Amino acid sequence: MSRAVDVAAIKRRASAKVAPLARCEMTDLAQAWRAARPPVAGIHFDSAACARQSFAAIDLAAAHARREAEIGGYVAAQHAEPELTAGRSVVGELTGMTADDIVFTTGATHALDLLLSSWPEPRRVIACLPGEYGPNLAVMAANGFGVLPLPVDGLGRAQVDDVTAMIAADAPTLVHLTAVASHRGVVQPVADIAAACREHAVPLVVDAAQALGQIDCVVDADAIYGTSRKWLAGPRGVGVLAVRPELATGLRTRLPPAHWLPDIPPLRLLEFGEANIAARVAFSVAVREHVAAGPQLVRERLAEVGRLTREALAEAPGWRVVEPNDTPSAITTLARMGARFEITDDWITASAPHGLRAAAVQTGTHPGFMTDWQQPLMVLFTQAEGMSVLHETVFENRLVYVPALQKLGCEIEVFAACLGGPACRFQDTNSVHSAVIRGVSKLRGADVTLPDVRAGFSAVLAAAVADQPSLLRGIHHIERGYHRPFEQFASLGLTIRRG
Ligand SMILES: Cc1ncc(COP(=O)(O)O)c(C=O)c1O
Repeated sequence: MSRAVDVAAIKRRASAKVAPLARCEMTDLAQAWRAARPPVAGIHFDSAACARQSFAAIDLAAAHARREAEIGGYVAAQHAEPELTAGRSVVGELTGMTADDIVFTTGATHALDLLLSSWPEPRRVIACLPGEYGPNLAVMAANGFGVLPLPVDGLGRAQVDDVTAMIAADAPTLVHLTAVASHRGVVQPVADIAAACREHAVPLVVDAAQALGQIDCVVDADAIYGTSRKWLAGPRGVGVLAVRPELATGLRTRLPPAHWLPDIPPLRLLEFGEANIAARVAFSVAVREHVAAGPQLVRERLAEVGRLTREALAEAPGWRVVEPNDTPSAITTLARMGARFEITDDWITASAPHGLRAAAVQTGTHPGFMTDWQQPLMVLFTQAEGMSVLHETVFENRLVYVPALQKLGCEIEVFAACLGGPACRFQDTNSVHSAVIRGVSKLRGADVTLPDVRAGFSAVLAAAVADQPSLLRGIHHIERGYHRPFEQFASLGLTIRRG
């Protein structure tokens, strides 16, 4: 049953809810934070994510660069050492480590690479979240680590009991947990997972790139790493890696120590070499400022802003807030309201109570959207309201089935350009690998020849949507690929007659 949507009422309710959010921005904390740094030059969705440095951080970085010009980089670096040590100890405070456990890196990804490339054991199996940050997966693979998925709930949150059972049954080399993802405000139960890992003597490595400065990171990890440029509002190009001494002493760095360096500990060796000291100085200033503002106060305010944002957006038509309201994170994730799924061990149901909406989908290797799903998705797109885009990045020539669908009335146009996602390896080739699909299309019956099994399946789906009968030739492709397909289609109510 459909219900008329009272948009004006929704707007009124939303603005009543946004009002406290606006007041929240006027708190002393927010005012002090804003006054301490240059104003943003216009509204830009990316400005919150990157390097909103304070005047003090910028000025001290510039002063360091000037000192390098005046007295030379090596001596200037010695002068900067007290500031850098102060920065390390503050990072220690935020991660439950000491200044000696911390090294500077050029970012979070670099920190993970340094750690994994120096990992003490030859066995290399990492248990990590199924939706792990892509560049982290690439670093794991590049360092020869195989990946096992941690058990998670429907929100993608690690299930502590199941993780405990998993590591008790067959311990991986280490558990890697991204405390807050880059694309979701879901906060992982890091301290509980740390306790489980400790009980079973499995090292825990925590990605705190989105967590440092946003949530409590004193979590008893064996190693924790993060980045300067996000919630700590330091400059780009700096990160930190904190490693407990028990793990740090065993590290085997990829590069051996230079012969003139007397017994430098492996952890310090990770930091050795050329570096942008001015940026490290600015980062140290940024973390000191964060601690001076009161990390607990900052966390509480960010959690409150997250809660108010979610409440304000709860009734936005066509969208759904992903996180529970009380998630202690300022990141709010919205999902398009399209299909709804229910998944159990025995069955899956799917429905679209508000109608399907257009989307942009890009295929990819695991854990991306599987390339074999694109043919049925293409037909679904034709029934979604608006313009959808499909970008195939895995195989060349995967769109050969489109002419059959076009004959059945699907409004699909194909392109050699990379559409609907970042450029892929086919970008400079003539390979037709993107499609734009217009919906909702009225599909019609047609006489089509099926070129292969996947194409065949999509043509059957399109023929099922069409309002007149279709003649499909080459059905041996389908019979080869599926178990008694026509009986199963018939059980769904399709009228099928074999010629
Ligand atoms: C969860 C997570 N991990 C790691 C990174 C990488 O950080 P960096 O750019 O410092 O390498 C990011 C950046 O967005 C992130 O969100």
